[in-house]
Amino acid sequence: MNILKKKIKYKKKNKILRFVNQTNYADNFGYQWNIFRKTQIDNLKFNVSKTRLLEQTKWKKKNFNNKTITLEAGSGAGRFTQAYLSQFPGKLISIDLSNAVESNKKNNIDYFNRKRLFIFQADISKMPFKNNIFDNTFCFGVLQHTPQIKKTLMELIKKTKKGGSIVVDFYPYNGFWTKISAKYLLRPIAKRIPKKHLLNLIKKISPFFYRTHLVLNYLNLNVLTRFLPICDPRTIPRAIKGKQRLEWIILDTFDMYTAYYDQPQKITNVSQFFLDNKCIVEFAGYVNYHHGISAVVRAKKL
Ligand SMILES: C[S@@+](CC[C@H](N)C(=O)[O-])C[C@H]1O[C@@H](n2cnc3c(N)ncnc32)[C@H](O)[C@@H]1O
Repeated sequence: MNILKKKIKYKKKNKILRFVNQTNYADNFGYQWNIFRKTQIDNLKFNVSKTRLLEQTKWKKKNFNNKTITLEAGSGAGRFTQAYLSQFPGKLISIDLSNAVESNKKNNIDYFNRKRLFIFQADISKMPFKNNIFDNTFCFGVLQHTPQIKKTLMELIKKTKKGGSIVVDFYPYNGFWTKISAKYLLRPIAKRIPKKHLLNLIKKISPFFYRTHLVLNYLNLNVLTRFLPICDPRTIPRAIKGKQRLEWIILDTFDMYTAYYDQPQKITNVSQFFLDNKCIVEFAGYVNYHHGISAVVRAKKL
């Protein structure tokens, strides 16, 4: 089935169709995902992304078959690409705005070669696909990083078939307190530091501040940890330990300082948007997936 709209211009590089300029607001993501290509990918020791995908979507394998086509919007290095393809039959169309698509292709090369995975470098707000084409859609960790939240959600709805499931997870907004943290206070400075230097700096400070975090945690002074200049290690799945935990902290800290857009959303607003746009909402709230917790809205297109 041809899912592409007619007469759309693209370039082909490395067997991936590119519908966007090579330089765009998501360059930081391309940089980070090509350096930390493997950090968050499930392996024999942990299956964090697989569990998270199942818990957040509640999709059941029996409802999928070889003809099912699912859209993944904003795939990064492809941790959920792998989690999806290893658990469900059919095809997955994965898009990302940045050159993280290279990293996704490398991480999931077998699925790519077997034509179960199709990767496009494309913008969610201008997807090159026909409307009502995907059986299911998921978009994890992306919404807050797009310039126009409503536009992003609308495009996800448009591309999904009637009766299809659309699942998004995102940074939740919990009042003004959400933005009073080292992340938002230091970001104006951090953003000005060249990516390579910033990453080196984060690598240097992370071990010390991770230990500080553990001490504050031990002393029940969690209220202070939001002012430490690293990501909150409690958001990292508990199954990730030792050296890999530190690598994950470095990656998430780089991510938190460099994202061009960072707009946490109220769960109720995201949910209401689906309700206002011909969807029913099956779930809106926090999902605890054993390794962590995410703000999730799960909708069905009517
Ligand atoms: C925080 S990463 C999450 C990646 C992946 N979903 C995961 O959870 O590992 C956000 C991703 O969204 C992509 N992104 C941001 N804006 C986008 C847009 N308008 N269209 C497509 N992808 C976008 C970025 O390039 C980045 O790879």
